[in-house]
Amino acid sequence: MKDASKPQHHPGTRDSFGSSFGVLVALAGSAVGLGNLWRFPYLVGQNGGAAFILIYLIFVFLLGLPILLSEFIIGRRSQASARAAFKALAPGGHWGIAGVLAVLCCTLIISFYSVVGGWGCEYLFKSLCFDFTRGDGSDLENLFSSFSTSVWPPLICHTVFLAATAGIVISGVKNGIEKFSKVMMPVLFIIMVGIAIRSLTLEGAGAGITYLFHPDWSKVTANTFLAALGQAFFSLSLGSGMVITYGSYVKKDANILSLGAQTAAADTIFALIAGCAIMPAVFAFGISPSEGPGLVFITLPHIFGQLPLGGVIAIFFFLALLLAALTSSISVMEVIIAFVMEEFQMKRRPATILVFLVIWVLGCLCSLSLGVLGDWKVFGKNIFDLFDYVSANVLMLIGGLVVVVFVGWKLGRKEMHDELTNSGKLRIPNWVIDIMLVLLRFVAPAAILAIAVFQWI
Ligand code: PHE
Repeated sequence: MKDASKPQHHPGTRDSFGSSFGVLVALAGSAVGLGNLWRFPYLVGQNGGAAFILIYLIFVFLLGLPILLSEFIIGRRSQASARAAFKALAPGGHWGIAGVLAVLCCTLIISFYSVVGGWGCEYLFKSLCFDFTRGDGSDLENLFSSFSTSVWPPLICHTVFLAATAGIVISGVKNGIEKFSKVMMPVLFIIMVGIAIRSLTLEGAGAGITYLFHPDWSKVTANTFLAALGQAFFSLSLGSGMVITYGSYVKKDANILSLGAQTAAADTIFALIAGCAIMPAVFAFGISPSEGPGLVFITLPHIFGQLPLGGVIAIFFFLALLLAALTSSISVMEVIIAFVMEEFQMKRRPATILVFLVIWVLGCLCSLSLGVLGDWKVFGKNIFDLFDYVSANVLMLIGGLVVVVFVGWKLGRKEMHDELTNSGKLRIPNWVIDIMLVLLRFVAPAAILAIAVFQWI
């Protein structure tokens, strides 16, 4: 095998992160997103609360973390974007296809993600106009469905959100992604903790806390496991080439084991804070927690309308949602841009504009598929649902599977040890590497395959 410990592509010209804290906030920024603030709370609600959370936590640390570290190893060792990384570490094989699938996965994700991010823009705007505190809340469901199924308003919002994403990424890794994440992640944390405190101190919040932290095992079914693993993948941005791409911008002396563990921990903490911000309030107002995807856009505005100071809390909540979505969407776009730059030898600016245009068109189709293009169906799903399903339930799982097999079997123990210890400079007990190897070689592939088979049959 070729020595991949040195940069293989554009030596000297490749962008990189400036500091370990920068890497951490960028990785956590990617992980913490709509997955935590929008998807996690409604999945908890639909899957019976605490039991789901416990299963989710086990998946995050037993499977998610080793997979995340594997992607980190591939990216940092190769110093290359998704496809080139596999090719640098295993020249001559067909592993590069996995990188192309990852780029495809990110293209699908960002297409629907930027539509939902656009809804976040609209709802932030509505909360700035104090729209939710005016009426009695009875028209909120209508408001959401008529907005999301209309033609122009969601398209304009999608365009604004995507342009903001491209505007950050075009400035590069250190000056764009890292700078933005360094400021916004702490802001996001403060806002979410503030909202959680408000929610936890509401009268009647206790039922929400019990729901979140007291498992009811009778609610657990095979679906609970499926949903929990899918969520772990989505929330940690696994199998999408994100950690490979960000990892490729990380310096050779960084401790990737500790960065990976901190990323997983930060993502989990944010998900739990989001749960504490939302569930106690939902219970305090006597609403059913199993609202589904409309929880954040219908139920919460309803609650804001009745809460003392709810108008202001609404502004902070939708601002947080938007920031979380942006720090994630920049990472998804970066995977595609890094690929285009390296594969087609393009500069960052034209690559960003090209990627923006392609995603803009796909995103428009996603948005319109909720309304006027609702009849365009593939496998019974409209374009929005199709992109969501194929990326999160198919491509991310395939990506994760390839990564664990690649690192567990193809690279093997020595290269793993080398990368995790920075060629012996860091002390990591052998048993840590041994456990990781067993998880990567046997447990993770078996779990991913089991979940995939369950889902697809
Ligand atoms: N992890 C992000 C979230 O929770 C979504 C994401 C998926 C980001 C894949 C990057 C890559 O919202």
